[in-house]
Amino acid sequence: MGGPRIQVVEDTDALSRAGADLLAGSIAAIPGARVVVATGHTPMATYAELAERRRSGLFDPAAMSVLQLDEYLGLEPGDRRSLYGWMQRSFLGPMGIAEDRVARLPVEGDLDAACAGFDQMIDSRGGLDLAILGLGLNGHLGFNEPPADRSAPTRVVDLSPVTIAANARYWGSVGAVPTKAVTIGMRQLLSARAIVMVVSGEGKRAIVHRSLEGSVGPDVPASFLQVVDSGVTVIVDRAAWGEG
Ligand code: F6R
Repeated sequence: MGGPRIQVVEDTDALSRAGADLLAGSIAAIPGARVVVATGHTPMATYAELAERRRSGLFDPAAMSVLQLDEYLGLEPGDRRSLYGWMQRSFLGPMGIAEDRVARLPVEGDLDAACAGFDQMIDSRGGLDLAILGLGLNGHLGFNEPPADRSAPTRVVDLSPVTIAANARYWGSVGAVPTKAVTIGMRQLLSARAIVMVVSGEGKRAIVHRSLEGSVGPDVPASFLQVVDSGVTVIVDRAAWGEG
């Protein structure tokens, strides 16, 4: 098991280079890799670096397929603030990945049944190869808000006040942030063959140490990264990690 490999880098530029190195290597190693792609601020520079490498012919994402990590509920179709829209602009478009190679989370109809179907689809394809994740201020992975057990399925969740406050910057005010979402569950994420989590900024210092060095349990979903069998790499910048 061995626990997560923690790679501390000096700044956000170094984080994007290290992230791009690791992701490009992991994706190239598994033809047809099934990859979960986080949105959020932290991985954006890494995606831009990967896109630059693609333009230069150094990275070829042609064979990969993508799964959506999480999505708000209650938006109008085509709302630019959807996480799918964000993933399209930051990852799918720049990587040249067509919609038929993307598994989108359900956002309407019988969501319990559709989420169970999403997990079955992943299982039937042999699980996830790579999960690219960020870290929430409350230790969430995707929108697995605490408490979230390691076996939690893909499901509808209520966003926590911490997450709503953190995301208010994208919506103009706290009151405008959707309160419900759908997320790939902990079981699938923790079973991915490789997990790469990127963490940046001083505001994440307490939660990154709590997640990687504190006790393991549902109150800090990311703490389960300490005890999964797959290869977990956490790339964290100095601002987040501190001098220790
Ligand atoms: C985004 C997501 C979230 C973010 C996390 C960190 O798809 O699933 O878990 O990764 O909230 O967000 P940033 O990077 O904006 O600090």
